[in-house]
Amino acid sequence: MQVTLLDALVNTYRTDRPTLVSARGCMVTAEDGRELLDFVAGIGVNALGYAHPVIENAVQAGLATGLMHSSNLYRNQPAQKLANLLAELSFADKVFFSNSGGEANEAAFKFARRYAREVANGDKHEIVALKGSFHGRLFGTLAATDRPSFRAPFEPLMPGVRFIVPGDVDGAKATISRARTAAIIAEPVQGEGGIRLLDAQFLQQLREIADENDAVLIFDEIQCGLGRTGTLFAYEHFGVTPDILTLAKPLAGGLPMGAVLVTDKVAAPIKPGDHATTFGGGALVSTVAHAVVQHIAAPEFLGEVKAKGELLAKSLNELTNLPKVKEVRGIGMMWGIELTEVAMPYVTRAFDAGLLVTTAGENVVRLLPPLVVSEQQIQEAVRIIAQVLQ
Ligand SMILES: Cc1ncc(COP(=O)(O)O)c(C=O)c1O
Repeated sequence: MQVTLLDALVNTYRTDRPTLVSARGCMVTAEDGRELLDFVAGIGVNALGYAHPVIENAVQAGLATGLMHSSNLYRNQPAQKLANLLAELSFADKVFFSNSGGEANEAAFKFARRYAREVANGDKHEIVALKGSFHGRLFGTLAATDRPSFRAPFEPLMPGVRFIVPGDVDGAKATISRARTAAIIAEPVQGEGGIRLLDAQFLQQLREIADENDAVLIFDEIQCGLGRTGTLFAYEHFGVTPDILTLAKPLAGGLPMGAVLVTDKVAAPIKPGDHATTFGGGALVSTVAHAVVQHIAAPEFLGEVKAKGELLAKSLNELTNLPKVKEVRGIGMMWGIELTEVAMPYVTRAFDAGLLVTTAGENVVRLLPPLVVSEQQIQEAVRIIAQVLQ
């Protein structure tokens, strides 16, 4: 029997996929020497592709100080600079750094509850999430994730989470109350749930309902934020501003980092000791994240993402003629191809044809290419997808 390197890893991930050994630009190389065009970008992480000079230079600069980590017993300059940059670029006044998306959402829930305790009694604690949502795999975030198969083996999860249906304003009004609701959480573009853009009017109504009930509105832009939709933040498309925004995936160019952006109103009651993480906002990751955010936020860069997103949209829309394709939907560099059947076999076939994609739910092929993908690579990817779906 061949012993693979995966033998000592816990069996949480599929092992029927080849091992990747190196990467450059938008191409990854597998152990067997095959080169593959990456249209999933580490599930939305590698926004600048692989081995991008901006990231490599920032890593070198971060290492050169020797201060890779300093704990949160002391402040470090890169984290302060990064927090200032994110605040300047967004609605937010303050930022907390975590190490992943799930942790960013957990922190967001704690901050919302902290605020609720300040404005009301201990009963105001509920989190209202949306059907189709994905917010993470930790006990709080899993409780706010609408995927029975992810939840069932680990119940009981965190209590106090209620779900509403996107677009159902009456349901939202019936579920959300001043007395009990601490927060409403939504992904402006649902990722794992099948690449579904929420309706702008519905988000506007959620904003109003949140305000009427002094509940905190959280946008989870862990997948759809930081340039993925063609604007720096997805909420810019919808004209609705949250009280809390969570980011992660592409933030530190492939190093693990999440961020929770909050208004002064939400930040005001938070005191030292209310929340913490050993690694959060370390000097090295913060240096890299600062370089990544600055690069992505540049208007010329976002202009290119938008233009390439339009090309991708146009090319993918041609696939709607194929009998297996039910719908193509998305925005910018975030697309889902809903099939009339289970999507996973087509992900495998795309892999065999040299293209990395993934699924979003049962029937959707999900595309999250690096934002630096070329027009030629877009055409090549759509050609492979069309061939695979024939
Ligand atoms: C919208 C959204 N929220 C939260 C998460 C969880 O992030 P992480 O896997 O970094 O914990 C993800 C990950 O896919 C996500 O897409």
